[in-house]
Amino acid sequence: MEKRVNITIDGVHIRAPEHTSVLDTAIEFGICIPHLCHYPGVPDIGACRLCIVENVVRGKPRVTTSCTLKVREGMEIHTNTDRIQQLRKNVAEMLVAEAPNSKAVQDVAVRCGVTDVPYKFHNEECVLCGRCVRVCNDVWQAKALGFVGRGRDRHVAFPFEKKPDFCKHCESCVDLCPMNRTPCPGPMKKGEEFVCGQCESQLSMAEDVDDSCVWCRLGDGFGCTRKVQAQ
Ligand code: SF4
Ligand code: SF4
Ligand code: FES
Repeated sequence: MEKRVNITIDGVHIRAPEHTSVLDTAIEFGICIPHLCHYPGVPDIGACRLCIVENVVRGKPRVTTSCTLKVREGMEIHTNTDRIQQLRKNVAEMLVAEAPNSKAVQDVAVRCGVTDVPYKFHNEECVLCGRCVRVCNDVWQAKALGFVGRGRDRHVAFPFEKKPDFCKHCESCVDLCPMNRTPCPGPMKKGEEFVCGQCESQLSMAEDVDDSCVWCRLGDGFGCTRKVQAQ
């Protein structure tokens, strides 16, 4: 029988299946933590840092990514403190500055309260979330994609920059890429990027309802698998 552990997330007592992540547990129980690099069934690497939460250890809250944090007996998690909101908003600001031409990124930025960004727009074609690399390597076991380079040169590439024969042509790398969702008004021109803020997934009404999954449909971009309203 599946072993469960007792944890609290935002004061809600949850019996979570052992070995699951805090992020998966929160989503399962209707507590929406914004996330981007996480995708169900693909190993997490904590790349985007949007899913940060406070994990209270011996009375001290420690900020950590919830997708890479496994549940443990007695754990106390806070997903939406003032500190987390501020840190997450800053992460989202940087993300949308890097890649304003992604609807998934625009959506998550709005979800995190971003209305403007204090950073220069770069209009990158990749946010280095690693979804493509992980689905290729860990799910399909194809190892046809990988990260190369460091710092601003870091990017995703085929070995020797050429699609290898052992690519399985599954297209998962394309399907899971958050950059493949262009903003509704269409691609933003270089030098004319902005925070859209018009997305239907803005949660202004729903945020007045305590402890409720708002079924925000952000999962279209972020892989939230929740299908039912919170109890
Ligand atoms: S299409 Fe090829 S490169 Fe892309 S995930 Fe599948 S095996 Fe990997
Ligand atoms: S190509 Fe897409 S899926 Fe791959 S790391 Fe970049 S943003 Fe993520
Ligand atoms: S770091 Fe957890 S979803 Fe990206």
